[in-house]
Amino acid sequence: MNIVFLGLPGTGKGTQAEMLAGEMEIPHIATGDIFREAIGRQTELGQKARKFMDAGELVPDEVTCGMVKERLAQEDTMSGFILDGFPRTLAQAEALDQIMQQLGRKLELVIYFAAPEEVLIRRLSGRRVCSGCGATYHVEFNPPLEEGTCDRCGGELKQREDDREETVIHRLQVNREKTQQLVDYYERQGKLTSLTAEGSLEKVREQLKEAVGLI
Ligand code: AP5
Ligand code: MG
Ligand code: ZN
Repeated sequence: MNIVFLGLPGTGKGTQAEMLAGEMEIPHIATGDIFREAIGRQTELGQKARKFMDAGELVPDEVTCGMVKERLAQEDTMSGFILDGFPRTLAQAEALDQIMQQLGRKLELVIYFAAPEEVLIRRLSGRRVCSGCGATYHVEFNPPLEEGTCDRCGGELKQREDDREETVIHRLQVNREKTQQLVDYYERQGKLTSLTAEGSLEKVREQLKEAVGLI
């Protein structure tokens, strides 16, 4: 199944995508993760993306769309994929339609993670990410067994550069209107399913499994 996860920063897209992709045995493709990895490896893509990400701005469409096009052309996406954090603008949504058409495939489902912004600010400010394997935790809602250390690989947990409060507020502002435009776009295409993303991890997961037909 070819799925897009849509939602404001902190709605839980990455956390849920990780679990669902594992269960469905399809790749989890997160544009933010690809950019962060490129920054870590100091590639040209990383250099292009860095200043936008640190400021909580969107990376320009031409950079992002080219990258997604390349990724979706890879063999492992043939059995389906979860695209997390893309599209984020109408231009990206149109580009995705075109990419899928060129590949002779179809986007089947767009899942919208809806949650009030107060919830998102708390989630983002308490998020910690493993510098070894990328696993995501929350100091209060999903803490590791030992503070500051990843349960999975023992790596050090860090706060993301763009999770400082002023950048979080800016990210929400940058994405609010664009996200709504995408909700309307996919609703018109009849592909949208909305989840109540403010509940617990388990509650969101249940709704998600129902949406993709796993329960
Ligand atoms: P990206 O990495 O995609 O960040 P984002 O969209 O801002 O979303 P987040 O990753 O912050 O939130 P999430 O929904 O994945 O939440 P998570 O599961 O981690 O993008 C970063 C930057 O890259 C952008 O600002 C931009 O610069 C650039 N970029 C990326 N894609 C782009 C694009 N298409 N175009 C242009 N630029 C692009 O959860 C958050 C926290 O909450 C965690 O701590 C988690 O443990 C906790 N949590 C999750 N679910 C629950 C729950 N149900 N209850 C309690 N806590 C929960
Ligand atoms: Mg994420
Ligand atoms: Zn780890």
